[in-house]
Amino acid sequence: MSRAFIAALSAMALIPFAAVAGDLRSDANAVFKPVTAAAAAKAVKNNELTPAKIELGKELFFDPRISSSQLISCNSCHNLSLGGVDAGSTSIGHGWQKGPRRAPTVLNAVFNAAQFWDGRSEDLKAQAKGPVQAGVEMNNTPSNVEATLNSIPAYVASFQKAFPGDNKPASFDNFAKAIEAFEATLVTPNSRLDKFLAGDEAALDATQKKGLRLFIDKGCSGCHDGVNAGGGNYAQFGAVEKPSAAILPEADKGRFAVTKSPADVFSFRVAPLRNVALRAPYFHTGQVWTLEEAVEVMAKSQLGVQLAPDETTAIVAFLGALTGDQPKVDYPVLPARANATPKPQQ
Ligand code: HEM
Ligand code: HEM
Repeated sequence: MSRAFIAALSAMALIPFAAVAGDLRSDANAVFKPVTAAAAAKAVKNNELTPAKIELGKELFFDPRISSSQLISCNSCHNLSLGGVDAGSTSIGHGWQKGPRRAPTVLNAVFNAAQFWDGRSEDLKAQAKGPVQAGVEMNNTPSNVEATLNSIPAYVASFQKAFPGDNKPASFDNFAKAIEAFEATLVTPNSRLDKFLAGDEAALDATQKKGLRLFIDKGCSGCHDGVNAGGGNYAQFGAVEKPSAAILPEADKGRFAVTKSPADVFSFRVAPLRNVALRAPYFHTGQVWTLEEAVEVMAKSQLGVQLAPDETTAIVAFLGALTGDQPKVDYPVLPARANATPKPQQ
């Protein structure tokens, strides 16, 4: 039976509302997959997840001494108290330099097919080596990170525990693997959407259900799908109508920089929408401060559609249902520096 036919029957009050809602659930289950810790662990390749490695990764994530100034940690820009991002717009890193792009969230990043707005890193361990060395982020070198870690006996012991049998455990490669292991735990299950997918009819209110229906029927879910409601493929930002130059400046050609294919000019990884309500401002430029405006920009630029105000309201309400349980992270007490630990550099 077609959805239009069911809707028509329902309008005539011939079948109860629950039957239509059931149809919405099966449509939603065809688009989205739930966030679970088990799925996250399965998504990690070539890196065994052990409690020792995860704990070490957590310490490294919070340790500012892996930046050359010893002021900036991963958590500075991917603040776990703020949905895994900074307060925007584009990140501020070493020497108060403003980078060109907004920090994407580390929450559920393990589910993304590739990392960064342009997908230039294949996974989280490859990604973790980037910010440490980026001049506008942590401005450090692998050898200085290794010198720092190896100078601190408690870190050497933790690396030995996390990488047993390795003859040089506190290496830059293992640093990245430990961070990946920790990041694989940063997932947000039990969102209202996930409860609805599992059969809890009351998990979404009427406005959120209307928003979910619109999200599917208008075509948003054609790009934003899967576990992370995005993060699985690439699309040209401005596929139908280019947004303003503030939102999509000429200089950043997106995935073109990675593939050099003309078809990829202004192509970006479809943004994952899990917890999106927690992390304004939006888009890779971080110039849009409300979810309402972000939704309207998307409808116009990707689908050529002008949404009615009540449609925007409903889609925004639905996006709020993508907020899951935030990871509970005990703030780690880091091992003290030793006499041999390199000093901060300007
Ligand atoms: C991208 C983790 C440090 C700013 C990312 C991504 C991850 C990540 C997983 C990709 C997420 C995705 O594509 O969905 C880390 C880790 C860090 C770290 C583990 C510490 C080793 C920093 C710092 C800053 C920062 C200190 C700010 C100064 C950014 C930005 C991007 C990004 C702007 C997007 C860059 C682009 O797409 O070109 N980070 N990050 N990160 N991070 Fe970090
Ligand atoms: C980004 C929602 C349709 C591709 C976003 C963001 C939101 C959103 C809220 C910003 C996320 C963030 O900054 O963290 C929607 C809605 C849609 C829709 C409600 C339907 C009305 C589409 C379609 C496509 C698409 C159909 C693919 C053709 C993208 C891409 C980005 C994005 C590539 C990243 C843009 C950037 O570079 O900043 N979407 N989207 N979206 N969406 Fe959509």
